[in-house]
Amino acid sequence: MDLKVYLQEKRLLVEQTLQEIMLKPEGLLADHIKAMSYSLFAGGKRVRPILCMAAAESLGPPPAGLLPVAASLEFIHTYSLIHDDLPAMDNDDLRRGKPTSHIVHGEAQAILAGDGLLTMAFEILSSPELGSAIGAEKQLRLIHILAGSAGPRGMVGGQAIDIAAEGKELDFATLRALHSCKTGALITAAVQMGAVLGKASPSQFQAFTDYGRQVGLAFQIVDDLLNVEGTTEQLGKKAGSDAELEKATYPAFFGLEETRQKAQAAIAAAITALDSLDQKADPLREIANYIYYRKR
Ligand code: IPE
Ligand code: IPE
Ligand code: MG
Ligand code: MG
Repeated sequence: MDLKVYLQEKRLLVEQTLQEIMLKPEGLLADHIKAMSYSLFAGGKRVRPILCMAAAESLGPPPAGLLPVAASLEFIHTYSLIHDDLPAMDNDDLRRGKPTSHIVHGEAQAILAGDGLLTMAFEILSSPELGSAIGAEKQLRLIHILAGSAGPRGMVGGQAIDIAAEGKELDFATLRALHSCKTGALITAAVQMGAVLGKASPSQFQAFTDYGRQVGLAFQIVDDLLNVEGTTEQLGKKAGSDAELEKATYPAFFGLEETRQKAQAAIAAAITALDSLDQKADPLREIANYIYYRKR
């Protein structure tokens, strides 16, 4: 398979779905909706929705409801980026190659844009139309997975550890937990949600979960590496910022060479986790490698 073509095709489907779902900037809420759309359509890689689709399609043809479910992940992810960039958090003024939400819309509207996107994710997931398409039990399971991954035991909790750890030295177990929560949890949820829609057996669900945890960890380790080795232009966000803020990162803890090895080991473990799946899981295997070799 040609991964570049695969990613392009999936990205197009994600863009179309996000466009269909996103509210139109009309009436009293026009400015708020424009602020949400500004970040949602700023050109992310769409890795989480694509992982969700690739997981579901590892088990068979695309199941009903796949696109809105995949899109809900991007709503959560985009909200997390808007809040991550706020002055009180990482204080970044560039994201996805554009000025950050608070730079363009002001801090209060950026906070609200994030709140709006977060809440919309659950409006999409809990919609009666989706319930009719996939059944109430599956729908509830998806909502539970997404909420758990986004909340205090997932992304938000990871962000809390990240902020508290600035300027401090963490032990390795805490550093790993920080990465697994702030980034690994939502990526694991993406794969799990695809698995639920694809009717994974319990053992298959475990395999997808193991894959998700490993690629999720690798994703953040590589993000840390890119922050050291990439340029602001290439990343579309500020390079070198982790060192400036004295963030707890793998390169700060292990140095670059060992960090690369850790990322590679996680990618290898992710691919091994899929051993019981046939060639329909090849996109997931290729995406794991892409996560390591990506340049932004
Ligand atoms: C950036 O995520 C933040 C992390 C969790 C590491 P992505 O690298 O997926 O960012 P976009 O969506 O492509 O902008
Ligand atoms: C992002 O972590 C994690 C989120 C939950 C948004 P970082 O702060 O390291 O991500 P970037 O490098 O700003 O994208
Ligand atoms: Mg951060
Ligand atoms: Mg940041």
